[in-house]
Amino acid sequence: METVVSGIRPTGNLHLGNYFGAVNNFLKMQQDANCYFFVADYHSLTTHPHPDNLNASVKQVLAEYLACGLDPEISTLYIQSDLPETTELYLFLNMLSYVGELERSASFKEKIRKNPDNVNAGLLTYPVLMAADILIHRATKVPVGKDQEQHLEMTRNFAVRFNHLYGVEFFPEPVAYNFGVQLVKVPGLDGSGKMGKSEGEGNAIFLIDEDDVIKKKVMRAVTDVGPTGPNQQKPDAIENIFSLMRLVSSNDTIQHFEDSFNNCTIRYGDMKKQLAEDMNVFISPIREKIKLISADEKYLAKVVKAGADKAHENGRKTINEARKIIGIRSF
Ligand code: TYM
Repeated sequence: METVVSGIRPTGNLHLGNYFGAVNNFLKMQQDANCYFFVADYHSLTTHPHPDNLNASVKQVLAEYLACGLDPEISTLYIQSDLPETTELYLFLNMLSYVGELERSASFKEKIRKNPDNVNAGLLTYPVLMAADILIHRATKVPVGKDQEQHLEMTRNFAVRFNHLYGVEFFPEPVAYNFGVQLVKVPGLDGSGKMGKSEGEGNAIFLIDEDDVIKKKVMRAVTDVGPTGPNQQKPDAIENIFSLMRLVSSNDTIQHFEDSFNNCTIRYGDMKKQLAEDMNVFISPIREKIKLISADEKYLAKVVKAGADKAHENGRKTINEARKIIGIRSF
């Protein structure tokens, strides 16, 4: 059976980008593969969250995963820091990763551009920790959004390098995976780039957003004066609205707006109103479940404990084996 791993940083509530890039993709695999899903709390330390906030965010993200349909009976749902074996593997992999390749990673470059005052070594070695998360379970598939593609390429490089150095076939070469289709990049509402929690107010629709909040954000989404002739190519901001619609609306609705764009009768106000309604229909059952699950501390504690045990059992095996390969052996 194939092994699948994915994770999300607890740096805010889950949004539609997280859902369609990673969670939904993972949900489709949980019946047929050996699946691990974790809350990447170690990764979130690069930005020094307040300890109380960190703990609350971990709980919240966990409740949100569960509300989306992650089934802790069939998948292993755990907190990254409950599997400290990950950090030992991170150390081993750090010995094989080159400073130059880490400095060239697109996400590192972007992070130092955005936060020039906090260029810590944890940021530089972020992809190594991520590789450790994946390789600790010797996973082959990693359901993530398009923004993580380069990290997966680096993970494969570290895996191959380890195997080559020690003359073993120990780590597989995992791939960024989307169930049956290409990797997803969910756009934000501000007309440029991807949906993200750090991209500015109003750019992301969160799974906990109430109806009126969704409406307000969607109605403010960037559009333009409309097409000036039939069958034009859509400007980026308009294509983004269509992309969001393709995630939550029916085929008939999408076709209706495609046709009205092509014959220049489209009214973006109507389109956004429809999009907000369809988003709300999609989000509201998840939102209600988030409220129920996040209030049930006992249930969350039970899930976390069971997940830690299961993750630990598998992680321990990998680390014992890796230690032996490296030459850390008892005598
Ligand atoms: P993070 O927390 O930034 O995002 C979590 C997941 O959501 C996806 N995602 C998106 N997908 C499509 N469109 C978007 N607009 C969008 N925004 C976010 C991300 O691709 C990701 O799958 N480094 C990771 C967390 C991580 C991890 C791992 C993932 C740590 N270790 C091991 C997989 C395997 C991150 O920062 O994701």
